[in-house]
Amino acid sequence: MSAGMYSEKVIEHFRNPRNMGEIKDADGVGTVGNPICGDQMTIYIKVKNDRIVDIKFKTFGCAAAIATSSMITELAKGKTLEEAMKITRKDVADELDGLPPIKMHCSNLAADALHAAIKDYWEKQKKRKKSGK
Ligand code: FES
Repeated sequence: MSAGMYSEKVIEHFRNPRNMGEIKDADGVGTVGNPICGDQMTIYIKVKNDRIVDIKFKTFGCAAAIATSSMITELAKGKTLEEAMKITRKDVADELDGLPPIKMHCSNLAADALHAAIKDYWEKQKKRKKSGK
């Protein structure tokens, strides 16, 4: 892999990913696959008072996918669910000082997986309310 096409921030996050791993008793889990390359990313969130208090990711993907996963966990941690839903694919790439155009599809995974985890949390809340628990 040529590192030359990546910004320093991407390389730094790829080498030292933040919040990598799994939350066993997560309140919400979102998994998305990249139709272009077949790579996959899962995001786990813990929620308290509508705020993301903990977040972790597991990514099977390229350097750009790992760097964007790492970056999105930093962006989302501490945010309310509403705020985290507003984090866009572009925000993540911008925070990393850009990604090479051929790698933009990789960065889409992170925002999509985060949003999927939040939706999963909301679904679970709805079910819980219905069952009266
Ligand atoms: Fe698959 Fe980047 S090549 S996520």
